[in-house]
Amino acid sequence: MNNKRFYITTPIYYPSANFHIGHCYTTIVADALARYKRLDGYDVFFQTGTDEHGLKIETKAKEAGVTPKEYVDKIIENAKDLWEALEISYDFFIRTTDDYHVRRVQEIFKKLYDKGDIYKGEYKGLYCVPCESFWTESQLVDGKCPDCGREVKEVSEEAYFFKLSKYQKQLEDYYEANPDFISPVARKNEMLNNFIRPGLEDLCVSRTSFTWGIPVTFDPKHVIYVWVDALSNYITSLGYPEESELYNKYWPADLHLVGKEIVRFHTIIWPALLLALEVPLPKKVFGHGWLIVNGGKISKSLGNYTDPRDYIKSYGVDAVRYFALREVPFGSDGVFSEEALILRTNADLCNNLGNLVSRTIQMAIKYFDGNIENKNIEEDIDNDLIYSTSHLKEITDKKMEELKVNEALEEIFDVLRKCNKYIDDSTPWILAKDDSKKDRLETVLYNLLESIRVCATLLQAYIPDTSKKIFASLKIDVNNFDDIDKKVERYELGLEKPANLFERIKEN
Ligand code: MSP
Repeated sequence: MNNKRFYITTPIYYPSANFHIGHCYTTIVADALARYKRLDGYDVFFQTGTDEHGLKIETKAKEAGVTPKEYVDKIIENAKDLWEALEISYDFFIRTTDDYHVRRVQEIFKKLYDKGDIYKGEYKGLYCVPCESFWTESQLVDGKCPDCGREVKEVSEEAYFFKLSKYQKQLEDYYEANPDFISPVARKNEMLNNFIRPGLEDLCVSRTSFTWGIPVTFDPKHVIYVWVDALSNYITSLGYPEESELYNKYWPADLHLVGKEIVRFHTIIWPALLLALEVPLPKKVFGHGWLIVNGGKISKSLGNYTDPRDYIKSYGVDAVRYFALREVPFGSDGVFSEEALILRTNADLCNNLGNLVSRTIQMAIKYFDGNIENKNIEEDIDNDLIYSTSHLKEITDKKMEELKVNEALEEIFDVLRKCNKYIDDSTPWILAKDDSKKDRLETVLYNLLESIRVCATLLQAYIPDTSKKIFASLKIDVNNFDDIDKKVERYELGLEKPANLFERIKEN
């Protein structure tokens, strides 16, 4: 039985509007990590989905004149189509409106209530009646509702609370004992200093002011707080709290990938709920940065975004995937723009990778009718390329383990750059003029093909279509990373000139 398991999740997205490139960002990174692990022999469970309850969706649906379920169904259809276009290899798509999820969240809530960790109390706040929203003093604008500018009034409503305060010490101890639980480390310090150490307050976990949510079974005028509903997705999908093979196999999750603004929910509320349920905690939560456009976060409510499929149509899926994975150090904020996407595609995919593959294959065809084997006529200038190629997987393993996805790609493209330099330094066109150098020329081309093969094998995790095209041109079958060390004895490329992997895009 395979003991190498890897459970990775994206946040479940709000289907309040169609998804933008910011949502694609997290999902593409999660996909690359999932693919990498699968190729490395892991049994992977990669989950994504949608977080469909709450007042915001209820309001949106009302505005559109449809039921909340009708409203979200449409957006989810669109999201699944987008994930297909981006070749997201998820194993499971959870919707919080799915029956099993609703039932299991209700059971979780009841379990916590029976245990005494959820109790009934009173929620006091400032309420805007037309907006059906609670606000805190600091959120008000000139003392009025920040959404509609009308008067708010102090109200109190009966609500259930979760004893978050009870878990403060345990959380702090857990952070201490598991220094890698929250990453990057700056986010961990932020959680400790801004939230945990100043003291955690009990959390209001039910609402009576709207109905689009999961009802509390024993008090159905209450719906369960949307974050309790949403966070539970990571275990309800596996069958919890029922006995289940999936749960036993994959929980605890290896990695929750989340945006930086929701680290708090995943590293305080979620582990506290799990501690209360006496369930093991996830191994790692990674908080990444945002993609910014024109100085601001890309946002559904600002409407400052293009349908990501438009970029795929114009530049191809691997250009979009590559940009998301390579442009921004994973963890930091980064700028998304079409110009940057074009520059990146031209520089790396078209010049560095695409030209290398076509040049090498064309030389192999021209000088050897496409048949290349290692003639072992070595020279010193080969050493750097051969060494870097044979150690590349070791390096990308480490980078991926540290979630430095952009750096893993940088390393692969560095080897490709070395290949280009190797062509310049070994001057095959000069070797070709001298019959006595024929074996040396074949050795050079063999070394290039081997480096391309290794890079393309690793690139399957990031830009799978491009890797497939390269394998087709090299006339080889490659499956997983086990094949990396298996040198190809003889390349038989045929005489057909390969199609360009990437067309150069016009830069403005
Ligand atoms: N529904 C909650 C998550 C519940 S998880 C149990 C939610 N949804 S969201 O749709 O608002 O955001 C989901 C994720 O998308 C977040 O991690 C958020 O950071 C990410 N992104 C949304 N816009 C983004 C960018 N512009 N850039 C990068 N990621 C962004 O929060």
